[in-house]
Amino acid sequence: MIILKTPDDIEIMARAAKLVAETLQVLKREVRPGITTDDLDKIAEDSIRSGGGVPAFKGYRNYPKTLCASVNEEVVHGIPSKRELKEGEIIGLDLGAIIDGFYGDSAMTLPVGPIPPRVAELLRVTEEALEAGIAQAIVGNRLSDVSHAIQRHAEAAGFSVVTEFVGHGIGRQLHEDPQVPNYGKPGSGPRLQVGMVLALEPMVNMGKSGVRILDDEWTAVTKDGSLSAHFEHTIAIQASGPPRILTTL
Ligand code: MF3
Ligand code: CO
Repeated sequence: MIILKTPDDIEIMARAAKLVAETLQVLKREVRPGITTDDLDKIAEDSIRSGGGVPAFKGYRNYPKTLCASVNEEVVHGIPSKRELKEGEIIGLDLGAIIDGFYGDSAMTLPVGPIPPRVAELLRVTEEALEAGIAQAIVGNRLSDVSHAIQRHAEAAGFSVVTEFVGHGIGRQLHEDPQVPNYGKPGSGPRLQVGMVLALEPMVNMGKSGVRILDDEWTAVTKDGSLSAHFEHTIAIQASGPPRILTTL
C-alpha cells in the first residue's frame, strides 16, 4: 500500500532530507586520503544530531552505524571501520535522518583524489541515471517509466545496473511501498500521484551486474570485483511538472 503524504508531511520530510543533504556536503569536504570511514561516520552522526535529527540507519535491522560507506567494489551497505581511504579510490556515502517521525535518505559517490577517466564516467553516468529517473517522476507516468529511464541511461554508457537492491517509498518508515527497481520495461506499475515520496537510488557497476554479500552480513560487493557507484535522492511527486528534490540544500 502506497502511503500518500500531505503537504504538511512533505514539509517535515523536507527538513529531514535537507539535514541529510547538508551532512553529505560536510562529508564531501572531509573525503581525502588518510581519513577513515569511522571518522566519516562520527562526523555524520555529530552533524545529524546537532541538526536536531536522529540517524536513520543506526539500529535499523541491527545496522551498527550512522553512515553506509562503500569503497570501490563495495556496492552499498559498507560498514564504517578503521579502513583509511587511499588516493584513486571511490567511496559511496549513504545517509538517512529522522526528524519529527519522518525520514530523509540520500547517497552520493565521491572520488578520493584523482581517478581515471572511465571511473569518473561511472560516477557521472550513475548521477545522470538518477537525474533521468527523476525527470520521469511526473504525474501521468507509471513507476516503471522511472526504472526504465535509469537502466537505459546506465546501459547506454556500457555499465550495468544492480537488480538485487531497489529504491523505495519513504515517509514515517525508511522503506515503504512501492519498491523502485533500477531496471524494467516502461509503462507498468502504479501511476505516479501527487503526495508520493520516493527514494530513487541507482547502483551501477563498471562490469557485470551481479552482487554478493560479505560475511559481515551487510556489505554488498560486485561479484566480478568491478567498481560500483550509487546516488540517491528523496523526491516528492508534484501536481504538475518535475518532482521536488527534498535532499538538497
Ligand atoms: N539508502 C539505503 C536504503 O534505503 C540505506 C539503508 S542502510 C541500512 O536501503 F543500514 F539502513 F539498512
Ligand atoms: Co534508500
